[in-house]
Amino acid sequence: MKPINEPHKQSLRQLLKWINNPADFLEESIQRYGEDYTVEFPGKNVITFLSNPKSIEDILTTPRETFDFERGVEVFGPLVRKHSLMRLDIASHKRHRQLIMPALHGDRMRLYGRLICEMTEKMMQQWRVGTTFNLKNCIHQVTLNVLLDVVIGFTKDERSQKLRRASLSLIEIANSQSFGFHMFLPFLQIDLGPWSLWGRFLRLQKEFEELLYPEIAQRLQQPDSDRTDILTMLLSAKDEQGESMSKEELCDEVITLLLTGYDTTTMTLLWAFYWLHKTPQALERLMAEIDSVSDPSDTKKITQLPYLTATIQETTRINPAILVGAPRVLATATKIRGYEFASGAEIWPSIYSAQRRQEVYPEPEKFQPERFLGRQYSPYEFLPFGGGYRFCVGNVFAQYQMKLVLFTILSNYELALTDSRPVRRVRRGPGVQPAKPLRMKVTARHRRQSHVPVSV
Ligand code: HEM
Repeated sequence: MKPINEPHKQSLRQLLKWINNPADFLEESIQRYGEDYTVEFPGKNVITFLSNPKSIEDILTTPRETFDFERGVEVFGPLVRKHSLMRLDIASHKRHRQLIMPALHGDRMRLYGRLICEMTEKMMQQWRVGTTFNLKNCIHQVTLNVLLDVVIGFTKDERSQKLRRASLSLIEIANSQSFGFHMFLPFLQIDLGPWSLWGRFLRLQKEFEELLYPEIAQRLQQPDSDRTDILTMLLSAKDEQGESMSKEELCDEVITLLLTGYDTTTMTLLWAFYWLHKTPQALERLMAEIDSVSDPSDTKKITQLPYLTATIQETTRINPAILVGAPRVLATATKIRGYEFASGAEIWPSIYSAQRRQEVYPEPEKFQPERFLGRQYSPYEFLPFGGGYRFCVGNVFAQYQMKLVLFTILSNYELALTDSRPVRRVRRGPGVQPAKPLRMKVTARHRRQSHVPVSV
């Protein structure tokens, strides 16, 4: 077997597999090359994938001065804007994280909890027993509206509504399937006018900017203390030097939150419903726990339910929304597990592969939330939200939201998959989704079982 820092040449077919079906590519590569390996794609793009927990620990605990984050996000092109968290140098990155984190943690969650439940209830109003629906279209209505309200917060005035439409279009285009090809094949990133995908994307970003700047100016002139959205909170947030974010920084971070926060949460929820309805014993155990809740309006208590928490953890293990952590490009030569990597080497922690290691997760292809009851995995074995200083800023909010959506739907309706065959996976942004739409049927209104023994 080659040392982990020596590349294995890949064919065009393998490049296309990596772009279109990255989970299969990662599984096949582990079989061929072992847990940690380097590949060279046509076009001389060399990437090292790490999935052994010790190697992941090495890369996630290497001092941040060792990396060139600007180069690390080159692959994403203008998707990651100049002042986005993902592109910033060390000092600005720290500063932005300090400003953003409070908006996505702690007491703020209670404010968002009611909104999440209301949006889910509104979506379910379309359901009748016997109807079938495309699960993604339903989940999307909740996750999209919640994210837009939480991040920007809209009113009924004309500019606000235009801004909402522009945000929607931006999210939709960046999460379309063909956008994935544009991300990994930079020669496609050319502006061929408003009818081309790339041209439309660039114009939408501009349009968004032109709508957001006056919105920021207005919110600064007429502060409204009733607003609870992240944009408003960031407008008044100050760093240690007493400085606020500039309007350019605000705009870029708002776009970052919209683009990182939507698909990840939507896909995970989709997989959670899929796995629960393929695994009756897991669904039964979850329902017993849901039925034991005496006050369904107590969102804090709901989000602390052990089996519900384990269900979300197991979903993010088996189908992580982001298969590989953000690329880490070395700014200086560095040793990883004793192997010397030259400056410029591109290293990706493989979340998907680390979370399917047989040694840590027996029968890794099986959905078993019980794995997470009474057992804690190390942050290098279980890392659906990445790790180190680039750890996902939205992880608390995302988990809070996913638990509440799952709880609200399952405590009201009984559902079934209309097709019980296993699904094929295809790339969707940084993760994978079922190749065909997941369709479900509403089989009954859920009747709460009283006095159900809960065994968690
Ligand atoms: C199931 C939901 C989600 C998953 C699985 C997820 C996963 C991840 C992962 C793996 C990373 C890269 C971390 C690394 O390379 O170490 C990341 C980064 C990030 N995520 Fe999430 N995410 C989710 C939801 C969200 C939400 C809801 C938001 C915001 C509203 C968000 C905002 C971000 C941002 C801004 C970064 C970049 C952080 C930085 O570079 O400092 N994510 N996420």
